[in-house]
Amino acid sequence: MLELDYTNILDTAVGAAHGIPKIAFEKMDSSSKHLIADLETARAAGNLGFADVPFDDETTLAVARFAKDRAFPAVLVIGIGGSALGPAALDAALGRPNSGKRLVVLDNIDPDFVRDTLDTLVPEDTIVNVIAKSGVTAETMSTFGVVHRWMTGALGGRAKEHFAVTTDPEKGDLLQIARQEKYPVFAIPPNVGGRFSVLTPVGTLPAALLGLNVHELMEGAKRAAIQSQKPFLENPAMAAAFIQFVLERDRQKKMLVLFPYSQALWKFAFWFKQLWGESLGKKVDRRGRDVYYGQTPTAALGVTDQHSQLQLFIEGPNDKSFLLWAVREFRDPVSIEHAFATFDSMAYLQNKTMAELFQAERQATEIALTEASRPNATVWMDRINEDSMGELFMFSQYLTAYAGELYDINAFDQPGVEYGKKLTFALMGRDGFSEYNRKIDDIRKRDRAVIK
Ligand code: PA5
Repeated sequence: MLELDYTNILDTAVGAAHGIPKIAFEKMDSSSKHLIADLETARAAGNLGFADVPFDDETTLAVARFAKDRAFPAVLVIGIGGSALGPAALDAALGRPNSGKRLVVLDNIDPDFVRDTLDTLVPEDTIVNVIAKSGVTAETMSTFGVVHRWMTGALGGRAKEHFAVTTDPEKGDLLQIARQEKYPVFAIPPNVGGRFSVLTPVGTLPAALLGLNVHELMEGAKRAAIQSQKPFLENPAMAAAFIQFVLERDRQKKMLVLFPYSQALWKFAFWFKQLWGESLGKKVDRRGRDVYYGQTPTAALGVTDQHSQLQLFIEGPNDKSFLLWAVREFRDPVSIEHAFATFDSMAYLQNKTMAELFQAERQATEIALTEASRPNATVWMDRINEDSMGELFMFSQYLTAYAGELYDINAFDQPGVEYGKKLTFALMGRDGFSEYNRKIDDIRKRDRAVIK
């Protein structure tokens, strides 16, 4: 069961200038009922699509059945942003190097990366999952074109059996191509946006193809969805949203450091970075006023970053809030039994485990941050498995949705991203985007400032 420990957010831990008084949580408990009601109204109206996803047992079953019949050693995901970060996070947390299956994600179009990646794959052994909610994204469509040529070049007509598409069920060119080519199609519900789609077939299909248990993933997600509708003091997602909202608005914590003490959660931190940044980074609020909101998310890995960014975190500007993720149990604590007990630097480690050292280092970081008045909260998980990852993903999505409510912004659109996509279409000469060329020409006419 996931827990939020916010001891080191309180003013009693980090001082009044950087912390939040306990009384603020008590006040929020009585005034938060409307937040729960607002999200429930949005959900009932179909505007909170992600919340319903784990309860769609039929889709989960269809995904599991499809994957059961396809024993490919390599799963190649073609997608970007919300159509790639979720599968990558699931694989990093739950995939096993010795499982005989591996996930490869082509989420960049750097030609050398594309070429090098394809060179590591054997078409016969690869299933390709093309993922795009819009079905038109330039990066994904171009990569699909290249991979299709690579696959058909090697396998001819049999290549069709190596593709599956995940996209909007009603629109987009990718859907049309999939129908034309008779590829299996998995739907992303129209009311679920890219960065909120990890528990749809966007994440579950690659996960199932890797042999992960998607039913357990959904059990954890269902639990977090139910928990996230409870009153404030029993609702870790809403409490975590409130903490970041107050720290950013009233305590000037303009950055959020995502700090997993778990190698398995490293890519999850990148998934969360997109969720937080793209959902809350907004120019206007719901009333149309210019607000320029958004706490900048950044990632650090325990313990690796103790020897890199931690110095800055402890002694640099006090403009950051810290969200640590900690795990109680590891699959193997790994004994540090060794043959060098006569050396001081090794003796104290004898009869200890890596798990004990890891927890001690996390605790040391927590204490150092707190002593330096850096507000830090910890999300605790008992262990990393399908169930707990489902819970963590759903908790994070609700956390972000609650933050959107507190800021009174639309957390589910991404006009900045869409604008960039349109400029790319114009630059590449796609029909229907010529109006953007005028802007591009104006900018090109400016004097360049270049130093050689
Ligand atoms: O969260 C979002 O909506 C975006 O980041 C998208 O996931 C990203 O732009 C990719 O879009 P698509 O899935 O349409 O290719």
